[in-house]
Amino acid sequence: MTTFTRIPTAAQADISVNPKHIVSKIDDNTYGGFTEHMGRCIYGGIYDPGNPLSDENGFRKDVIAAMKELNVPVVRYPGGNFVATYHWMDGVGPRDQRPKRRELAWIGVESNEFGTDEFLHWCEVVGTEPYMCLNFGTGTLDEALGWVEYCNATTDTYYANLRRKNTGRDKPYGVKYWALGNEMWGPWQVGQMTKEDYAKKAYQWAKALKLLDPSITLILCGETGFSSWDSYVIKECIRHDLHGLGGSTSSSLIDMHSIHLYTASADHLQNVTAPLAAERAIEITAGLIDLARIENKVPPTVPRQKICFDEWNVWDPFRAPGEDGGEEKYTLSDALAVSVWLNVFVRQSKYIGMANIAQSVNVISPLMTHETGITKQATWWPLLLFSKYMRGSTVAVNLRCAAYDGPTKPEWIRGTVDTPWLDVSAAVDEQGVVTLAVVNIHPSEDLAVKINGVFGSVTAYTVTATGVDAINTKAWSEMQVKEIRADGGLDRSMYIFPKHSLTMLRWQSRSS
Ligand code: AHR
Repeated sequence: MTTFTRIPTAAQADISVNPKHIVSKIDDNTYGGFTEHMGRCIYGGIYDPGNPLSDENGFRKDVIAAMKELNVPVVRYPGGNFVATYHWMDGVGPRDQRPKRRELAWIGVESNEFGTDEFLHWCEVVGTEPYMCLNFGTGTLDEALGWVEYCNATTDTYYANLRRKNTGRDKPYGVKYWALGNEMWGPWQVGQMTKEDYAKKAYQWAKALKLLDPSITLILCGETGFSSWDSYVIKECIRHDLHGLGGSTSSSLIDMHSIHLYTASADHLQNVTAPLAAERAIEITAGLIDLARIENKVPPTVPRQKICFDEWNVWDPFRAPGEDGGEEKYTLSDALAVSVWLNVFVRQSKYIGMANIAQSVNVISPLMTHETGITKQATWWPLLLFSKYMRGSTVAVNLRCAAYDGPTKPEWIRGTVDTPWLDVSAAVDEQGVVTLAVVNIHPSEDLAVKINGVFGSVTAYTVTATGVDAINTKAWSEMQVKEIRADGGLDRSMYIFPKHSLTMLRWQSRSS
């Protein structure tokens, strides 16, 4: 949480931070990823058999190392839009018997060479948790129940035995997170439905799925968080009747509500302020969840449903069409937009149960593979810094500075949300190390800021480049992290945040 006081441009800007002012825990799953059967995400991305860079399973070792470096806690699979015509049974069992199918989301052919067991094995190798999305388009409830049983059951029953037969594996995978469809409101979606039809179906599926495995976490399919779809499905599904829950008063059928948003603009200032729409989306969704809990009389013993922001990123689908694999080339401006996105999640940690950058490899991704290695795009660096340092708890911050007053995208940001020149969040970890993340969105001005609450040695990590249009390529990586240590502390507690940059300042708090 950051409060903002607007001051004139000529006045001295300051940031006040006190690590005792803890707001809420930052869920580790905020730094989640997403792999879809789309473009080169799976084939040629995480799975590239025959490439010397791959292991005996066909998994790219450089991608695994990058996922480990990012410490990705959870990865969503197999889509996205892809899942609306995906039948998981096509992708298990002997590879030479798996059917090739037409794929209708991105208009291709799915070989099914990589399926459930390969993905779950990859997750184990990476050390991350799987998050599966169910087919609400052409799929049936029976298929969904079979999939959960295949992954999670210890019983002597058909699908659990099929897992044993296919993999020799008696131990279940224990997949905790399951989504009740993806973007079922979208006109592009196979099986698109009305909010009324979706809410009815989602609730009935949720009941059956929780009867089969009460330990799973179920995620409702939302839209942007600020739509009548969200308001309706939340109201209908976040309720507390005890059917199928064994009379439990401490759990509910729906555990999280999913929302998606992509932002982008060719104009730098519109690009970097666009993620602030996500901040309002989170606040509105949280309000809708509370409203449903109040009106549906959900008892306080049922934990408040959190938001699963399971697709977010900078993406212009005209610039990088999904049908062509969505291979965005990210600029410094995009890296700063991603930094603002991540600041939003830290500021709103009270409401965020999970967030997944879309996507983890090659498709609208910070990480690109090529035949002989990987390229870390501009957006990789803020993601790495946040995943490394912005864990623990959110700390309240007050920011005083001047603000940008120009146009925004979406337009409604102007008049709804403040757009200061500095975008700020702070966190404190279990060792009492404070991290202050500051994005100076100004395209041409360095900003000198007094930091109230900083003391002792400070380490500064900065991501910037010569201009907002700079990109990292296979041959040239201008953007990396620059680290500077000020052992004597900051001079008069002042720090100059360079124009168009992300800076993280880290210091040990006094109390620990
Ligand atoms: O992440 C790319 C696509 O964007 C996903 O498949 C879909 O859910 C969204 O529209």
